[in-house]
Amino acid sequence: GEVPEAPNVDWSFSGPFGTYDRAAMQRGFQVYKEVCASCHSLNYVAYRNLADLGFTEAEVKAIAAEYNVQDGPNDDGDMYDRPAQPSDRFVKPFPNPQAARAANGGALPPDLSLLVKARPDGADYTHGVLIGYREAPADFEVPVGQYYNEYFPGHRIAMPPPLSEGQVEYGDGTPATVEQMARDVTHFMTWAAEPKMEDRKRLGVKILIFVAIMTIVFYMAKRKVWRDVH
Ligand code: HEM
Repeated sequence: GEVPEAPNVDWSFSGPFGTYDRAAMQRGFQVYKEVCASCHSLNYVAYRNLADLGFTEAEVKAIAAEYNVQDGPNDDGDMYDRPAQPSDRFVKPFPNPQAARAANGGALPPDLSLLVKARPDGADYTHGVLIGYREAPADFEVPVGQYYNEYFPGHRIAMPPPLSEGQVEYGDGTPATVEQMARDVTHFMTWAAEPKMEDRKRLGVKILIFVAIMTIVFYMAKRKVWRDVH
């Protein structure tokens, strides 16, 4: 069937003056960490990047240290495990795509680092997929291991509904509805895909102010230069 466009969400980061909401990103990181990270990697983000979300250096260190990474070879030529450090990239759930497919009935959970940028209207789309699970229409066949999703292309998705009411417990007391978790994790994923968005928009605003001032300056110069011409 035809796939409708996902609902438009009023994201704080939309528009030329948009900014990220640190609290939403921290909650979204919690959702990624506790729910999505068992299947989806986040290969382009390092633990130190979490400082952008408002975490302190000590908090970032503690988060990294919850994971183990393989390092080496050491002086004896051996590989070894050590706790992750802030400079390490997020530890991935599977060693390679074959293992990821094997654990997901043949489907590959895509890396989430750039997904929001890779899909048209990526934030609305991602949020849409997360809230888009429905009972399939009577005449619509859904194979075993797939699920009906309103906003996923083709409507058949191999990802089981990842979110359910109250799935995480937010530290700031925000009720963890499916809608709330979907918004928060999408906010987090948008930051992951575009961590410099706020800088980019701020520069754009400065340039517009500069252009406005220069327009006035050049207009006054033009008036002066042509003053005696009638
Ligand atoms: C696909 C997000 C949790 C397995 C997707 C897609 C999104 C997404 C947006 C569609 C990708 C596309 O357009 O190509 C998330 C988020 C999660 C989450 C935000 C946490 C809230 C999980 C979990 C699993 C999983 C826990 C495994 C049990 C998959 C698989 C696909 C997928 C296998 C590919 C589906 C297909 O190609 O049919 N995920 N996911 N996801 N996800 Fe997740």
